[in-house]
Amino acid sequence: MNYTEQVMDHFMNPRNVGEIENASGVGTVGNAKCGDIMKIYIKVEDNVITDVKFKTFGCGAAIATSSKATEMVKGMTIDEALTVTNKMVAEALGGLPPVKIHCSVLAEEALHAAIQDYKDKLARGEDPDATPSVEPEEIQYV
Ligand code: FES
Repeated sequence: MNYTEQVMDHFMNPRNVGEIENASGVGTVGNAKCGDIMKIYIKVEDNVITDVKFKTFGCGAAIATSSKATEMVKGMTIDEALTVTNKMVAEALGGLPPVKIHCSVLAEEALHAAIQDYKDKLARGEDPDATPSVEPEEIQYV
C-alpha cells in the first residue's frame, strides 16, 4: 500500500492537533468499519471557522486527512465548510489507497457534528463559546 508524499507529510507533521478551550462546537464520531474515534473542535466568529483542532484514535490515514481537512476549512464560513467532502480532502492529499478511504470519513463527519453542535447551541439561545459542549452519551458510528 502506497501513500502519497502529502499523506506522509500530514501524518508525520499533523496540523491542528489538540483541543480548543471554550470551543463554539465539538463533534465526536466513530468509524463503523474500524471502531476508531475522532473528535473535532471549532471556534466560530461571525459565522467563520477561525480555529479548528482535532484529536483521534485513528490510523495514519485518519490523522493525515483530519490534518488536511482542518487546514482546508479554517477561514471558511460554516456553510462553505459543510461542502468539503472526504473525497475532496483525499484528492487534496493526492489520493488514498481505496482500502483507507473510510478513514477519511471521520474528519468530515466529526466536522459536521461540531457544526451541528454549534448550531444547536444557537438554536437554544445559548452563547456557543460560553456553553460547554455536551459529550454524547453514546458515540455515533458512521
Ligand atoms: Fe480506523 Fe483508519 S483504520 S480510521
